[in-house]
Amino acid sequence: MQDLINKLERRQARCGVIGLGYVGLPLALEFARNGFHVTGIDLDERKISAIQAGRSYIVDTRDEEIAEPVKAGKFIATNDFSVIRELDTINICVPTPLRKTKDPDLTYIVAAVDEIKKYLHPGMLVILESTTYPGTTEEVVRPKLEESGLLAGKDFALAFSPERIDPGNGRFNTRNIPKVVGGCTEACTKVAKKLYEASVETVVPVSSTQVAEMVKLLENTFRSVNIGLVNEIALMCSSLKVDVWEVIDAAKTKPFGFMAFYPGPGLGGHCIPIDPFYLSWKAKMNGFDARFIELAGAINESMPRFVVERITDALNRKRKSVNGARVHLLGVAYKEGVNDIRESPALTVMKLLAEKGAILSYSDPYIPKVDEEGFQLESVDLKNGFLGSVDCVVILTAHREVDYDAVVRSAPLIVDTRNALHGCKADNVVRL
Ligand SMILES: NC(=O)c1ccc[n+]([C@@H]2O[C@H](COP(=O)([O-])OP(=O)(O)OC[C@H]3O[C@@H](n4cnc5c(N)ncnc54)[C@H](O)[C@@H]3O)[C@@H](O)[C@H]2O)c1
Repeated sequence: MQDLINKLERRQARCGVIGLGYVGLPLALEFARNGFHVTGIDLDERKISAIQAGRSYIVDTRDEEIAEPVKAGKFIATNDFSVIRELDTINICVPTPLRKTKDPDLTYIVAAVDEIKKYLHPGMLVILESTTYPGTTEEVVRPKLEESGLLAGKDFALAFSPERIDPGNGRFNTRNIPKVVGGCTEACTKVAKKLYEASVETVVPVSSTQVAEMVKLLENTFRSVNIGLVNEIALMCSSLKVDVWEVIDAAKTKPFGFMAFYPGPGLGGHCIPIDPFYLSWKAKMNGFDARFIELAGAINESMPRFVVERITDALNRKRKSVNGARVHLLGVAYKEGVNDIRESPALTVMKLLAEKGAILSYSDPYIPKVDEEGFQLESVDLKNGFLGSVDCVVILTAHREVDYDAVVRSAPLIVDTRNALHGCKADNVVRL
C-alpha cells in the first residue's frame, strides 16, 4: 500500500469513478482538478457522449468544468470496464434505490463490484460511496472482491466513504464538505484518507466501514425524522388554524436547542425518502423495530394527500370541484434549484389530482418535460397571462427564478406549500 500512498502524494495515481451521476461526476472532476488522471465509467452512453463533448448534465457543474479536463487529457469517460486494469483507485457511486417492498436494492452495487473483481489487481484501492446499510462493504463488497483471490487489507485496500453532496447548494460542494472515511483495516483507512486529502479540505477517519456507513444513515434519518415532526406540526396547526410558518420563524429566534425544519408537500430526491429505510431494513434483520423511521416515513408520505385536500377545499370555497378544474403546478423538481424530478412529491400530487379529474399543466425552469408515471407534459411559459386562465396554481417547489409577485397578481387562486409567498397577505393565497 505504501506504493499507492507515494503515487497519491505525487498525484501519479490513476483514479477511476464508477457511476457518473450527481455524485460521481463532481467527484471525478474534483480529482482531475487536483492533478489526477481520472477515468469515469458509466453504462449510460448519453452521459459518456456529453462528457466527451464537454457538455454538463448536472446543474452545479458548468460545461467548461468538464471540457477543460477532457481537453487536457485529465478526464475520460467510457463504458469499458477493462480500463480498471490500469487504475490505482476506484470509487463506486452507483444508485441504491429501494424495491417496491422498501427493501434495499443492491443490484447496481453488485453489478459494479462484479466488474471490478474481473480486473482487480494488487495495490489497488476500492471505495464504496453509494449510500447503503451498515455492513454492506464487509458483507457484500468484500467477499465478492476476495473471490478474485486477493485479500482486502493485505493485497488491496477497501473502504467506505459516504457521499454528502447537496445538489443546488451554492455554498457547500465536494471540496468543502468534510469526508468521512472508514476502511476494512487501519491501513485501508490510511490509504483512502490519502486519496481524499488531495481533493477535499477535511477528511474525518472513523474506525470501520460500518461506522462510516452508519454516519450517512444517521444524518439522513435525522433529516427525515425532523421533517416528519414539522410536517405533523403543520397538520396540527392546520386543524388549530395557526400559521405554521409564523410559528417556525419565531421559534428559530431561539439561539440554542432549536433547528428550523420546514413542512412541505412531501419528501423527494434520492436520499431522504430512501436511505432511512436501508437502516430500518437492516435493523429488522437484527430483530429491531426502527419506530421513528417508520413513523416519520408514514407522516412524510401522507403530505401529498394533505396538499390535494387543501387544493380541494380551496376550490370548493370558490364553488368549484377538482374534477374539470385547471390546476397548474409551479415547480415539479424535488427541491429548489435542481433539475431532478426523481421521487419528487410533485409526481404523487399530480397522480392524485389526475385521479380526481383535474386538468393539469406545470412550469419549472429546471424541468422542461415530464415524462414519468404516465404523464407527458411540457413546461408552460408563464408569459402572456397564462396563469389567469387556470383555476388554481399550486406552488410545489420554490425555485428562485419565478416572479412570485406576478403569480399573485395573475392567478385566481394559489395554494402555496413552500411559503414561497412569505409575508404576502393577498386573498387568493392559501398556505399549507
Ligand atoms: N444525488 C444526491 O444528492 C446524493 C447525495 C448523497 C448520496 N447519494 C448517493 O450516491 C449514490 C449515487 O447517487 P446519484 O444521485 O449520483 O445517482 P445517479 O442516478 O445520478 O447516478 C448514478 C450513475 O450510475 C450509473 N450506473 C448505474 N449502474 C452502473 C454500473 N453497474 N456501472 C456503471 N455505472 C452505473 C448510472 O448510469 C448513473 O449515471 C446513491 O447511493 C445515492 O443514494 C446521492
